[in-house]
Amino acid sequence: MSSKIAVVGCTGAVGIELVKCCHARKSVFGDAPPDLYASARSAGKTLDTPYGPLTVVEFNVETLKAKAYDFIFLAVSGGFSLENAIPLTTNASGTPTYVIDNSSAYRYHDEVPLVVPEINFDSIAALDSKLIANPNCTTAIAAMALYPIHQEFKLKKLIVSTYQAASGAGEPGMQELLEGCKAHVNGDARPENKIFSHPLPFNCIPMIDKLQENGYTKEEMKVAWEMKKIFGTDDIKVSTTAVRIPTLRAHAEAITLETEKDISPQAVVDCLKGKPGVVVEDDPANNVFPLPLTCSGRDDVSVGRIRQSLIFDNKGIDLFVCGDQLLRGAALNAVLIAEAIVT
Ligand code: HSE
Repeated sequence: MSSKIAVVGCTGAVGIELVKCCHARKSVFGDAPPDLYASARSAGKTLDTPYGPLTVVEFNVETLKAKAYDFIFLAVSGGFSLENAIPLTTNASGTPTYVIDNSSAYRYHDEVPLVVPEINFDSIAALDSKLIANPNCTTAIAAMALYPIHQEFKLKKLIVSTYQAASGAGEPGMQELLEGCKAHVNGDARPENKIFSHPLPFNCIPMIDKLQENGYTKEEMKVAWEMKKIFGTDDIKVSTTAVRIPTLRAHAEAITLETEKDISPQAVVDCLKGKPGVVVEDDPANNVFPLPLTCSGRDDVSVGRIRQSLIFDNKGIDLFVCGDQLLRGAALNAVLIAEAIVT
């Protein structure tokens, strides 16, 4: 049986990947393409998708409710989600519509599950919620690598340094990076930075998102807030520095972790072996480790540079994680939530 799916915000970087991920899982959702919605500005456009050309329709909450979708993916701003996500969970036929929201609007609401399906799929049934929040990209990528380690060795502290790609600022962010690089190669004047706070090419910007009162940014605090909710514990202390770097679409994170139980690099390799959605790529003598370039377009999160911590000794590990920001960090995670509901 086919699922009826809508993608709202289909013309953005995450929206486009949502359509591709649904197509890649045709065996689960059926052959029918999702219906595509966006603002009046994009309505009427035709998008080239793996299903063939599809026309974008202007979003209207009543139109969507009348269609009685099984799944509605929201790849829109937090303000839009706050206004529309809950109304969209009920439809004209009275059948369940699951709304999977990629914004941060509902991530910290106690009654809304924040889900990485490999970790806490059960929280959807436990909270009996049709609205499901998709985590921030850095959290989803780190959580995939860290949860198996937490289960076996119990995490106490995490020190996270992120290396975040331009795609985190959407298609306009990617364009700004590409145009800045092209201008440099062509010897043209450097285009003005409009999306990022400073020019991104040949640079790194050690502040992403709004400053909080504690001097950390919202992007940095998201890792702490979301990791605790997904792992279902308040006992892990997390401190993050989030940095934008001139890569295109994969985020990387250097993580130092402290555990309650003794841990070793080999124990981490053994514990991650065979875990769905995670691969270990760790042969530093041959320059094999996770790279944004090789992780782009891939579903798995890659883990490498696994070393015993020089600070926490046999209760600590340093490692490097990398994952596609638009896939595991956004669209793929959302579609895997829907897949887990269907199967
Ligand atoms: N906030 C993230 C970033 C993207 O700026 O990289 C969230 O998916």
